Amino acid sequence: MDLRKFLLFLAVTAFKVKVSLQGPNQRRLYQDLMTNYSPLERPVANDSQTLTVHFGLTLNQIMDVDEKNQVLTTNIWLQLFWDDNYLSWNSSEYPGVTKVRFPEHLIWKPDILLYNSADERFDATFRTNIVVNSSGSCSYIPPGIFKSTCYIDVRWFPFDVQRCDLKFGSWTYGGWSLDLKMIEADISGYIANGEWDLVEVPGQVNHRSYECCEEPYPDITYTVVMRRRTLYYGLNLLIPCVLISTLALLVFLLPADSGEKISLGITVLLSLTVFMLLVAEIMPATSDSVPLIAQYFATTMVIVGLSVIATVLVLQYHHHDPDGSKMPKWTRVLLLNWCAWFLRMKRPGEERVRLACHNKAPRTSLTSMELSGSASAPQSTNGNTLYVGIHGLESIHSTAATSPDSGVLCGRLVARAGEEEMLLPTGHSSSVGKVEPDLAKILEELRYIAKRFRNQDEDESVCNEWKFAASVIDRLCLMAFSVFTILCTIGILMSAPNFVEAISKDFFT
Ligand SMILES: *[C@@H]1O[C@H](CO)[C@@H](O)[C@H](O)[C@H]1NC(C)=O
Ligand SMILES: *[C@@H]1O[C@H](CO)[C@@H](O)[C@H](O)[C@H]1NC(C)=O
Ligand SMILES: *[C@@H]1O[C@H](CO)[C@@H](O)[C@H](O)[C@H]1NC(C)=O
Repeated sequence: MDLRKFLLFLAVTAFKVKVSLQGPNQRRLYQDLMTNYSPLERPVANDSQTLTVHFGLTLNQIMDVDEKNQVLTTNIWLQLFWDDNYLSWNSSEYPGVTKVRFPEHLIWKPDILLYNSADERFDATFRTNIVVNSSGSCSYIPPGIFKSTCYIDVRWFPFDVQRCDLKFGSWTYGGWSLDLKMIEADISGYIANGEWDLVEVPGQVNHRSYECCEEPYPDITYTVVMRRRTLYYGLNLLIPCVLISTLALLVFLLPADSGEKISLGITVLLSLTVFMLLVAEIMPATSDSVPLIAQYFATTMVIVGLSVIATVLVLQYHHHDPDGSKMPKWTRVLLLNWCAWFLRMKRPGEERVRLACHNKAPRTSLTSMELSGSASAPQSTNGNTLYVGIHGLESIHSTAATSPDSGVLCGRLVARAGEEEMLLPTGHSSSVGKVEPDLAKILEELRYIAKRFRNQDEDESVCNEWKFAASVIDRLCLMAFSVFTILCTIGILMSAPNFVEAISKDFFT
């Protein structure tokens, strides 16, 4: 009975041993490999031999580009492959064991670090196991969220392309004891970023020599080239800015009498300032280079500021005090003649004046005729002369009634002296004063009223001249500022090297 039991037990254990060969082999292998192994030793057969480490990187994600602190945060897996001379075994001696795994602190590993790290722990990798196969090949793939310093040049923001270096190298080993061979960066698993387009990740091996020693110090530098996607900034900053600067042009179209010109200009200026603050918040506080968008905003702001100044000038002209000065001669020539001609602007009523003057031609002849009539008939009764005068006056008013402004204007232009003479026959015909004192009084009153009207007209025409000058300036500013705004918008935005690429990729896809 006992014997049978024992035999059964033996059979079962034999069967078990046969099934799970790996367990003891693996243990044996670990024990065999670890005896006399020191993680301090560089694992080469001959100490003068160079150990070659193959280094690569898998870029999974660009997590953040911090322009303000100049830090790039990336999710990366490093790949390190090397051969450990002391960790190889004859696989037929340990059947079933193809690979063994070691925690990274138990065996030797190259001390490769990210040189331009900006992480508070400096080395941001997660310590994973190292996988070793029977020929002693070690593969170590530590993942990590890397923060690296990167000079972010915002000169062409938001049409910028950034190049951020990731420099890896051994911290203590020189090129003679540890050589680096580069594996091309793997971006097949890259997860797209909303703000950045990954262009490429080229890498290169640099051998750098220091003055102290002959030994070169190799490093591998990968450059993450990424292009900012412009749609967001285009929609949120550029288009509003273009619209606002267009609004600034409307200041010149607004009639001066509305009294809103200045407030529109100031409102536009304020809204631009708000947008400029938004931009300033994103940008690093650097004076190295002015970002393109800040340049554009500043230019727009200058334009709007100048337009406010121009508007003040326009308003000053428009509401010019008629009792003040007359328009200086050069201003008149410059604005009312040259500029008005250049802008093809007609003075309001100019057409009518010309028409009225044309119609007035018979009137002057009438006046002269009547005057000659009054002169040629001194022998007739005294009342007759007066009648002629009043009749002449009436005829003026009847023609003036059809076109009130122009009649007066033209009347002054054409027949100032004649009118004066015609209205005031009292000066030389003393007979009127003698016979009809009432009529003389009436004439005096008429003279006063006429003079008053004439003065008023004169004031009004001075006012109109200033107003016309104001509108000429307005129109001139509208043209000049439109051209300037368009040139600035095109010139500044298009000066970005990849403007066309950015627009075509981000806006039309
Ligand atoms: C080590 O390598 C050097 C040169 O490569 C050679 O001169 C030396 O004999 C080697 N030593 C051993 C122990 O193999
Ligand atoms: C591996 O071990 C087997 C059996 O022990 C032996 O025959 C073979 O020669 C060994 N191979 C090497 C490369 O040492
Ligand atoms: C061990 O890994 C290296 C590199 O991956 C490979 O070249 C080699 O053939 C592997 N050895 C065995 C025995 O699988």
